[in-house]
Amino acid sequence: MNNACIAVKGISKKYGIHTVLKNIDLTIPHGQIYGLLGPSGAGKTTLIRMLVGIDNPDCGMVRVLGELMPKLSIMEQIGYMGQADALYEELTALQNLEFFGSLYGLRGQKLKKRAEHVLELVLLSDDINKKVSQFSGGMKRRLSLAIALLANPRLLILDEPTVGIDPRLRKTIWKQFGILRDSGISIILTTHVMDEADKCDSLGMIQGGRLIASGTPCELKKKANADTIEDVFLVYGEMEP
Ligand SMILES: Nc1ncnc2c1ncn2[C@@H]1O[C@H](COP(=O)(O)OP(=O)(O)OP(=O)(O)O)[C@@H](O)[C@H]1O
Ligand SMILES: [Mg+2]
Repeated sequence: MNNACIAVKGISKKYGIHTVLKNIDLTIPHGQIYGLLGPSGAGKTTLIRMLVGIDNPDCGMVRVLGELMPKLSIMEQIGYMGQADALYEELTALQNLEFFGSLYGLRGQKLKKRAEHVLELVLLSDDINKKVSQFSGGMKRRLSLAIALLANPRLLILDEPTVGIDPRLRKTIWKQFGILRDSGISIILTTHVMDEADKCDSLGMIQGGRLIASGTPCELKKKANADTIEDVFLVYGEMEP
């Protein structure tokens, strides 16, 4: 298990009296696109924040890239995109990238080259000098994705990366995810979009704070005797968590 990309063992989390994660075990190998699915409030973001090391479970352990979390040297190797955009509205796209790049120790020509490259990947090259306050929701999402990609991370953890992004751009972004995965980068993401779930190598379904099913999209469809991931979601949704 030490050589898995992610190894989660017996984690639980309570907020007040409300238990939001219940004894989750999860192993994700390297080099996959792994999707977390589940209804709103299921606990996906809570789990993601623990994988990134910005929140702690009450019990259990989280290992990322072989190390117990939270660990700064591992956090530096993760490109993280939260569910809410954390951007400086008064700065331009490029200035945002320069700011976040400097936090990763990037500077000068190297930073400029990486910034231009990631803006190209998310199709924002024409908006490089536009203030973020003038961006649409989808443009902000794409800039957040560019920031997650900036430091060339080994692992990408993306909480609903394509919310508000139109179908044509989503397709392009998913093509990029495939290219990144094929280059050896592991990608963990959450989504409510079922055709995206189908494109993942493996899926985990979370409901009521429990991991209730996991496997490839094909395996999950077979287990639930369903034709589509949407039907799998509905079948599991009707079960007691
Ligand atoms: N800081 C917090 N304090 C109290 N309760 C919280 C906190 N963060 C999350 N919760 C609760 O934990 C539960 C799981 O929330 P979480 O954000 O992980 O769900 P989610 O699966 O990501 O949902 P969505 O699909 O809507 O993003 C919810 O009931 C939520 O209200
Ligand atoms: Mg969430």
